[in-house]
Amino acid sequence: MTDKKLIIAIDGHSSCGKSTFAKAIAARMNYIYIDSGAMYRAVTLACMEQGIVRNGAVDEKLLPHVIETADINFRKKEGSAQTDTFLNGINVEERIRSIDVASNVSLVSKSTRVREKMVALQRRMGRNRGIVMDGRDIGTVVFPGADIKIFMTAEAGIRAQRRYRELADKNLKVSLEEIRNNIIARDKMDETRMESPLLKAPDAFVLDNSYMTPEQQMKWFDDLLSEMNL
Ligand code: DC
Repeated sequence: MTDKKLIIAIDGHSSCGKSTFAKAIAARMNYIYIDSGAMYRAVTLACMEQGIVRNGAVDEKLLPHVIETADINFRKKEGSAQTDTFLNGINVEERIRSIDVASNVSLVSKSTRVREKMVALQRRMGRNRGIVMDGRDIGTVVFPGADIKIFMTAEAGIRAQRRYRELADKNLKVSLEEIRNNIIARDKMDETRMESPLLKAPDAFVLDNSYMTPEQQMKWFDDLLSEMNL
């Protein structure tokens, strides 16, 4: 394996296992993993706490102040390789996964101001290289010169089944049909928004993991490293 520290960008559809795969790669390469979605979720929470998201709109006048004062970073969980997301010094990892944050994040993350701030922060996090970052615009906007770009996807029905099992394990009752419809709607929203839509970079390698185990995905990645001579 190369001694050169790489920048690895992973983009793709929601609920297709991007973060699990990105974390596994980061652990394997001994790199830092950054969940860019968590950053959009944290800034959304900051907007909600300041009361500037109301009735399906963000108060654009007050937004710059909230963005400027939102200090977002990641800290390692004690005794684990996992990290937690912090907003202004407070651990918000659980809070940012809540339904109310999830239902406002698309609205906040389509703001140009928000994206500019997040992209600058993400680039700063990658300045020492040795990073795996996942999201929607990492290979296209954040690190267009990334050493490896991966675009992940899986069939909508299969993504829905995986999500359904996850929720069932947590005793949350939502129908499979509802989840599938939500996944299709989110794909559409991600792909058609004006600001940094979800796009496959021309030089990204597509990984469709509909019928792949985690081990097969890691083998796919190892083969890619060898083929690219990295
Ligand atoms: O990956 P996720 O579901 O945690 O992402 C949360 C939201 O943030 C989702 O609506 C898409 C948005 N997002 C984005 O616009 N750009 C990114 N690089 C990452 C996530």
